Amino acid sequence: MEKSVVILGIESSCDDTSAAVIRDGVLLSNVTASQAVHESYGGVVPELASRAHQQNIVPVVDQALKRAGVGREELSAIAFTRGPGLMGSLLVGVSFAKGMAAALGIPMIDVNHLQGHVLAHFIKDPSQTEDAEQDESPTFPFLCLLVSGGNSQIVKVNAYNDMQIVGQTIDDAAGEAIDKAAKVMGLGYPGGPVIDRLARKGNPDAFQFSKPHIPGYDYSFSGLKTSFLYNLRDWLKDDPDFIQHHLEDLAASYEKTIVDTLMNKLRLAARDLGIRQVAVAGGVSANTGLRNAFHEYAKRYHWKIYIPKFSYTTDNAAMIAITGYFKYQDHDFCPMEAPAYSRVTL
Ligand code: KG4
Repeated sequence: MEKSVVILGIESSCDDTSAAVIRDGVLLSNVTASQAVHESYGGVVPELASRAHQQNIVPVVDQALKRAGVGREELSAIAFTRGPGLMGSLLVGVSFAKGMAAALGIPMIDVNHLQGHVLAHFIKDPSQTEDAEQDESPTFPFLCLLVSGGNSQIVKVNAYNDMQIVGQTIDDAAGEAIDKAAKVMGLGYPGGPVIDRLARKGNPDAFQFSKPHIPGYDYSFSGLKTSFLYNLRDWLKDDPDFIQHHLEDLAASYEKTIVDTLMNKLRLAARDLGIRQVAVAGGVSANTGLRNAFHEYAKRYHWKIYIPKFSYTTDNAAMIAITGYFKYQDHDFCPMEAPAYSRVTL
């Protein structure tokens, strides 16, 4: 019988310390420690993030191995997020992976965090199916809308290891635009989930914000952010409690503008490339309005859509482990001296 392939994945690119174990492509455990320390600062504080990773990494990896019922000696390789991300955060995961791989005498696999988000669609998790919109994985080629706090991209996925950026934001990411608007309205950080909750009760057509006009498949969200800010300033002059009076409508209208913008470019790319398998990934793919829009477009344009489980939309090590598993099949290992990259594209 062939020996099974057991991969430990480690993710520490931003403010989540996560470890996961995958055996022969099937997820055995996925443990994440989030960092509440940033909430009171209205954003991630890099220095605090890296300190918290230092505290969390050992217990998180221990838990992941325990829950998987896997001993260290059974591991075939260690996959880790090499970038992009916050340097101080990445270094904790990268150094830990190096130390553990060296101690066990097993190979290391470097994973691009963005590739991990896209390949989250291939995580086979037998333990929970409750919030999965479908169990099937996409077949190649497919388009993936990758939307997070730091990225907004349309990616053509030709194979596990062959991805092409079709379009991307020329300034802010969609998640960043959502978080900024939430901050201006005093809704705390991260604002995405709050805007989502409020938007469900508001009228999406109550307010109009300027939509970006960027050629091709690229995005721009900085103008929208400014338009929101300037409009709000004017409205507040007439009614100092404008935000409280219109919170749900503001959230719904702003969210709609972002979702429409994201979907419109995605539709053009799908049409022009003749691709009808369309996926979404990254933190913003948790958004209800965006998920609903995917279902509408699927009906209207005969797409087959792939929407990840909530737990695999935000940063997690399961997506790093599955990417590592595919790279392991290609013997695509990295040397011990591999540095972390704060900026790297797909
Ligand atoms: O992928 P992610 O966890 O982190 C990286 O950027 O790597 O994405 C975080 C982003 C934040 O901007 C957050 O506000 C947004 O995802 N987000 C949401 C929702 N949940 C998280 N945005 C809209 N609606 C949500 N439900």
